[in-house]
Amino acid sequence: MVRLHFTYYLLATTTSAAAKWIVPGARWRDTDGALVNAHAGSVTVDQESGRFFLFGEYKVQGQVEGGGVAVYSSEDLATWEAHGLALEPIQGHPYISPQHIIQRPKVVYSPGTEKYHMWWHADNSTYGRLLQGFAHSPNITGPYTFVSATAPLGNWSQDFGLFTDYKDGKSYALYSNGDRKEARDVYLTSFNDEVTALEEVVHRFDKYDLEAPTIVQTEKSYFALMSHKTGYRPNNVVAFRADSLSGPWSQPFIVAPLGTRTFNSQSGFSLRIQGTKQTTHLYLGDQWDANSLWESRYIWLPISIDEEKKSLEVVWHDVYDLNIQTGEISPIQGTYYPATSATTSGSAFHQESSFSPSGTILTAIRGNTSTATFHNITGTGTPQWVSFQYQNTDDMGFGDQPGGSPDRIGGSWQLRRIASVVVNGRAGEGEVQSLYLRDTHKGVVLSAPLLLALEKGENRLEVGGLWNGWDDRGADLVGVVVYPPEE
Ligand SMILES: *[C@@H]1O[C@H](CO)[C@@H](O)[C@H](O)[C@H]1NC(C)=O
Ligand SMILES: *[C@@H]1O[C@H](CO)[C@@H](O)[C@H](O)[C@H]1NC(C)=O
Ligand SMILES: *[C@@H]1O[C@H](CO)[C@@H](O)[C@H](O)[C@H]1NC(C)=O
Ligand SMILES: *[C@@H]1O[C@H](CO)[C@@H](O)[C@H](O)[C@H]1NC(C)=O
Ligand SMILES: *[C@@H]1O[C@H](CO)[C@@H](O)[C@H](O)[C@H]1NC(C)=O
Repeated sequence: MVRLHFTYYLLATTTSAAAKWIVPGARWRDTDGALVNAHAGSVTVDQESGRFFLFGEYKVQGQVEGGGVAVYSSEDLATWEAHGLALEPIQGHPYISPQHIIQRPKVVYSPGTEKYHMWWHADNSTYGRLLQGFAHSPNITGPYTFVSATAPLGNWSQDFGLFTDYKDGKSYALYSNGDRKEARDVYLTSFNDEVTALEEVVHRFDKYDLEAPTIVQTEKSYFALMSHKTGYRPNNVVAFRADSLSGPWSQPFIVAPLGTRTFNSQSGFSLRIQGTKQTTHLYLGDQWDANSLWESRYIWLPISIDEEKKSLEVVWHDVYDLNIQTGEISPIQGTYYPATSATTSGSAFHQESSFSPSGTILTAIRGNTSTATFHNITGTGTPQWVSFQYQNTDDMGFGDQPGGSPDRIGGSWQLRRIASVVVNGRAGEGEVQSLYLRDTHKGVVLSAPLLLALEKGENRLEVGGLWNGWDDRGADLVGVVVYPPEE
C-alpha cells in the first residue's frame, strides 16, 4: 500500500516536547521526535535511579524481524529518551543475525553476577528452533554481549515472558512452547539465583494453547495474563488467578469488554508501581499492525483488581496521567462533541443508532467528498489530544481467515480503515492527518487518538476516508472528545 509519509510532518513538529500523559494507541514519540520503536516491550526499573528502561523489538519498514533490541528510558513512563540498540544484531552470527528472530526481550539485574541479564525468544526465521537467548551487560542500556541460546530444560520455547516476585526477588521464565500438537502449553519455570539458567518447572498451563504471557502480582494473588493465538490479530486476553505460583490456578477469564479484543491489543508485559498512596498495575500491551508491523502501537492501561471477587480487568482511558510518586492514575477530562453536532457532505449521513449516546452515528464517510465536520470545537492554540469515538464493523469475528467471520459470508476482513482528519480546512501537504480505525464490532465503540494543532478559539474538524489498500471508507463516528493541552 502507499504510505502516507506526509501525514507525519505536523506531528513531528508538534510532539517533540515532553509528553506527560499516557495515550494508548497514539503514535508515541521519543524526546527526539522519532517513533518509539520497542515492540513487544518490557520495562525494567533501575534499582539505583528508579528510572524506567523500556526494551523492545526494533522494527523498521522492510525489516520487521532481527532488528535487535532497542532501549529507552523514562522517569514518568510517558516521556521516552532513546539510547539506541541494547542488543545489536551481528551479521553472520548463528543466533542474532538480522536473519534471526529476536523477540520479546526482558531484562533483569542479577546481584550474583552484578550484571543486567537479557533473555528473549531466539529463533530462526521459520520458528524451527524455539530457544531462549541470553545476553548480559554491566550497563543497563548495554551494549549486551551474547552468551547463549538454549532449549529450556530440553524443551521448546516460543513467546517469552519474565516475572520477578517482588516479595523474594526470585525470577521466573514464562514461555509458550509452540504450536506443535504435543506442545501448546505455557510453562512457568524458576531461574537459578543468578538468573543464568532455568531450574525447575513450577507450573504448566496445560493445553490451553495461549501465548504472550505475563504475571501481575498483588499482595494476595498472582494473575497470569496471556493471549490466544491468532498471529498478529488481537483477541480476548485471559487471566488465571492463584495464591501461589505453583497453583492451583483458576479457570481463565476474559479481562476486557467482549467485542474489543482487549482494546485491539495483545498482552506481553505488566508493571507494578508501588506509589506512596497506592500500588498500581499497568497492562503493557501491543497493538500489532499486521499491515505494517514496524508502526505497531502500544496499549498501556491500568489494571483494576478485586481480590474479593478474584477478578481482574484492564480499564480503558483515552488519555491519563500516572503519578509515579503516588501511584495514582487520573483520567484526563475532555469536552465531548456528539455526532449530532456534526454536519455531513456527499453521501455521508446521520443514522439512528441505539448505542450512541446522542442516538445518532455518522456513517458512509468516504474519501474526501463524503465527510463529517465537527464545528465550533474550542481549541487553546497548543497541541491537544483529540479522541475519535468510532465503530468499524469490518470485524473478523472469531474466524481466523479473512472472511472467516461468523457474522458475514465471504466478506473480506480488513485490519483497519483509515480516516483523514483536516483541521480548519487546511488540506495542504502535512495537514491531512491519518487516523487508523481498527476493527471493533457492531455497537462496540472504541476510540482512536490524534494530537491536533487546534487554533485558539473555534475550530472545524473534517473527517473523511483514506485508502487502506482495499477501499477509502472512514469508520462510523459516534463523537469526538477534545482534551486540554498538556502543561
Ligand atoms: C530453522 O530450524 C529448523 C530446525 O533446525 C530447520 O528445520 C529449518 O530449516 C530452519 N529454518 C531456516 C530458515 O533455516
Ligand atoms: C552506560 O550507557 C550510557 C549510555 O546509554 C552511558 O552514558 C554510560 O556511560 C554507560 N556506562 C558505563 C559504565 O558504560
Ligand atoms: C516438553 O513439553 C511437552 C509438552 O508440554 C511435554 O510433554 C514434555 O514432557 C516436555 N519435555 C521435557 C523434557 O520437559
Ligand atoms: C480527493 O481524492 C481524490 C481521489 O482520492 C484525489 O485525487 C484528490 O486530489 C483529493 N482532493 C483533495 C482536495 O484532497
Ligand atoms: C458556532 O457557534 C456560533 C455561536 O457560538 C453559532 O452562531 C454557529 O451557528 C455555530 N456553528 C455551527 C456550525 O454550529
